[in-house]
Amino acid sequence: MRIDAISIFPDFFQVLDISLLGKAKAQDLIEINIHDLRDFTDDKHRTVDDTPFGGGAGMLMKAEPWGQALDKVITSETIVIFPSPAGDLFKQATAQELALAKHLVFACGRYEGIDQRVVDYARSKAQVRTISLGDYVLNGGEVAAVAMIEAIARLIPGVIGNADSLAEESHSEGLLEYPSYTKPANWRGLEVPEVLLSGNHAEIAKWRKNQALGRTRQVRPELLD
Ligand code: ADE
Repeated sequence: MRIDAISIFPDFFQVLDISLLGKAKAQDLIEINIHDLRDFTDDKHRTVDDTPFGGGAGMLMKAEPWGQALDKVITSETIVIFPSPAGDLFKQATAQELALAKHLVFACGRYEGIDQRVVDYARSKAQVRTISLGDYVLNGGEVAAVAMIEAIARLIPGVIGNADSLAEESHSEGLLEYPSYTKPANWRGLEVPEVLLSGNHAEIAKWRKNQALGRTRQVRPELLD
């Protein structure tokens, strides 16, 4: 998979060089290209924002640099993602769907957002998704994009060493994950549940399923609806 991200703060994406994603990049399982939006400006001050037509607080990102940046990266196989608190909620199913894409472009807005014509223009050239990380407001799309890139990229075959861990984690079957324990069996007087020491795999599987159900019912009952 190829991923391009466009932002006025390319440094936000340095964390993608760390850990499993860094390894996946080094092994060419994913290609990630980060673009500074200011490189697509034509003026001395590298201006990317301006006041909104109709008035209102804050500044908007101008269409011109975005148009130039998108023209550089969009191909016939691109899905353009605009992170935005006004978008569809990002879920594990979203990550699974986007992990099948050949090319993702993350267009990260700042300030009060991006001129709407940029989204409309992108839609005339590629598939476009406006996606929210959650019902809260971040200062821009970068942190949301990094989170989405991690959630998507770890589903690409080979990125996670042990593929079994993908099948058993939270949200993989619509439930939260059961609690897990490692050695020692007694830590500061706190015992590991007996069944996990029993060696009875059928009983362990049953216990884990019940724990996952109970935890989901308690913490996220809406997932069971
Ligand atoms: N930009 C600002 N807030 C955001 C959010 N909650 N999700 C995605 N992008 C954002």
